[in-house]
Amino acid sequence: MSLREVRKLKEKEEGVVILAHNYQRPEIQRIADFIGDSLELSMKATEIEAETIVFCGVDFMAETAKILNPDKEVLIPDRNARCPMASMLSVDLLTEYKKKYSEAEVVLYVNTTAECKALADVICTSANAHSIIEKLESDVILFGPDANLAHYVRKRTGKKVIPIPEWGHCPVHVSIGVDDLKRARNKYPNARVMAHPECLPEVQEKADLVASTGQMIKKACSHNEWVVLTEREMCHRLKTIYPNKKFYPGKDAVCVNMKKITVEKVKKSLESHVHEVNVPKDISKRARRAIEKMFELTL
Ligand code: 13P
Ligand code: SF4
Repeated sequence: MSLREVRKLKEKEEGVVILAHNYQRPEIQRIADFIGDSLELSMKATEIEAETIVFCGVDFMAETAKILNPDKEVLIPDRNARCPMASMLSVDLLTEYKKKYSEAEVVLYVNTTAECKALADVICTSANAHSIIEKLESDVILFGPDANLAHYVRKRTGKKVIPIPEWGHCPVHVSIGVDDLKRARNKYPNARVMAHPECLPEVQEKADLVASTGQMIKKACSHNEWVVLTEREMCHRLKTIYPNKKFYPGKDAVCVNMKKITVEKVKKSLESHVHEVNVPKDISKRARRAIEKMFELTL
């Protein structure tokens, strides 16, 4: 199936919008109506008029779109496109920590399940985590599931940020080591290094810029050559936006779950309206409150 055929099919299917994350395959980026980071996609999801959203990303992103649009049809082209980090925090562990640290405010990374979101005070993404935590009254924060992002916000805010679980991580980002960073610096001496805050603390500390994927796009204009320490498709995205700049992946880090979305599967989604994302009403209502609190604190 060619891209042209999918585009035609999409035109035929009125009332459908395709949202895609920055890590999606280049051909998916080409058929998407909107591409962005987790924060941009969740905000975009609140503005959509179309009846159907085809979400090219992983489970928690499509769930967030559904929570924000309970009356719309939200489809994910592959049900198995699941972020492994999102399942690293269980409701049981969260409940246990909430009891133990009853004075703490609970900030959860958007990369988590809807059930956990329903127990949070506020949701954040890597783009707004530190500014949201700065705005909260409490100096004690329960933060999950990413312990590396917890490290980043602890350093930036000076607050007591307790990671739940202590070992929560993204397998793609922790595969990027300091050795990869050093090798890239030697190979490209004129390049600056940008890293995602899901990277290990020692990698964050040696990078010139630590940023969400959306912030990487905004800040790349400040220099002509960059080593990019995140999922490999980010280089494609940056090169599309800045064709005259140079971007080098520090490592060939691939999120296999993001890559489960293919053009063929998007076509099937459009034709057969599969696979529908559903979130139980009571969970959705409570999770929505925590997501809306994020929007409130982001503005
Ligand atoms: P961004 O919000 O920076 O796009 O990150 C999402 C993600 O899953 C990174 O691995
Ligand atoms: Fe999850 Fe990591 Fe993939 Fe992002 S890159 S979706 S955090 S596994």
